[in-house]
Amino acid sequence: METTLIARTADTQPLSADTLPLSDTQPLSYVDALKHDAPVKSIAPSTSLIGMDDIWKTYVMGSEKVHALRGVSFNVKKGDYLAIIGPSGSGKSTLMNLIGCLDTPSKGQYWLNGKLVSKMDDDELARIRNKEVGFVFQTFNLLARASALHNVELPLIYAGISASERHERAEQALVAVELADRMHHRPNELSGGQRQRVAIARALVNNPSILLADEPTGALDTTTSAEIMGLFERLHANGNTIILVTHEHDIAERAHRVISIRDGQIEKDHRIK
Ligand SMILES: Nc1ncnc2c1ncn2[C@@H]1O[C@H](COP(=O)(O)OP(=O)(O)OP(=O)(O)O)[C@@H](O)[C@H]1O
Ligand SMILES: [Mg+2]
Repeated sequence: METTLIARTADTQPLSADTLPLSDTQPLSYVDALKHDAPVKSIAPSTSLIGMDDIWKTYVMGSEKVHALRGVSFNVKKGDYLAIIGPSGSGKSTLMNLIGCLDTPSKGQYWLNGKLVSKMDDDELARIRNKEVGFVFQTFNLLARASALHNVELPLIYAGISASERHERAEQALVAVELADRMHHRPNELSGGQRQRVAIARALVNNPSILLADEPTGALDTTTSAEIMGLFERLHANGNTIILVTHEHDIAERAHRVISIRDGQIEKDHRIK
């Protein structure tokens, strides 16, 4: 059942050569890619899954302005696996919040799945967010008093899905992350890795277009991080589009493309696989 749930097949085309993230050459390591200077080619922002064109985000703090993003442009095709890396305060979470429609840019255009979302109001954003985006956070953000199953069901409640279908889909999502035997446990009865897998099941249960993960392994030990990264790889292999933020190079290296950001600007954008 696993692949039926986590594969992006329901409303999407199978991956074709042009949606697949390159290449027939030997994969480069992240560090090699930086040396080889292989920038990602740009395509029209309105025709890719994600298209960002000259995005600015400015926070006003009293009389001071903080430019968290300063003219960011990039595109992401369906089926890509992208890591965003950069120092603390460089704008990574700000960018993820924009990609995930939790916030709107101060300036610039953002296209998601053919829709111009940079101009949408809060209601439209909420709708598109629920349909298109699954979020995974560093600290899991699970409801402490609800079982794993109920946590995974939540996005389906917001989407107005019937109780029986909700239950079935949440169960399948938990099976897909290998937690069939922990469905009725609450978060405090689960290990860190298991909690993160519940959060990943919750992010995927709506069959979103993109899976966004902000430091998903930040609160996990090395072995558990490797397990979660293995799960992301399986999800990617099944056609999911993944964008993750990390400040660890060995985590970024597992992705197929790396964007480095510094002081609110893209420093490098490289395909490594
Ligand atoms: N709501 C806000 N109001 C004002 N300034 C903000 C707000 N959110 C972020 N900032 C500022 O914007 C800049 C970018 O912050 P952001 O959270 O995107 O960084 P980050 O790259 O995710 O850092 P970290 O690795 O520490 O999580 C920082 O200077 C931060 O102080
Ligand atoms: Mg952050």
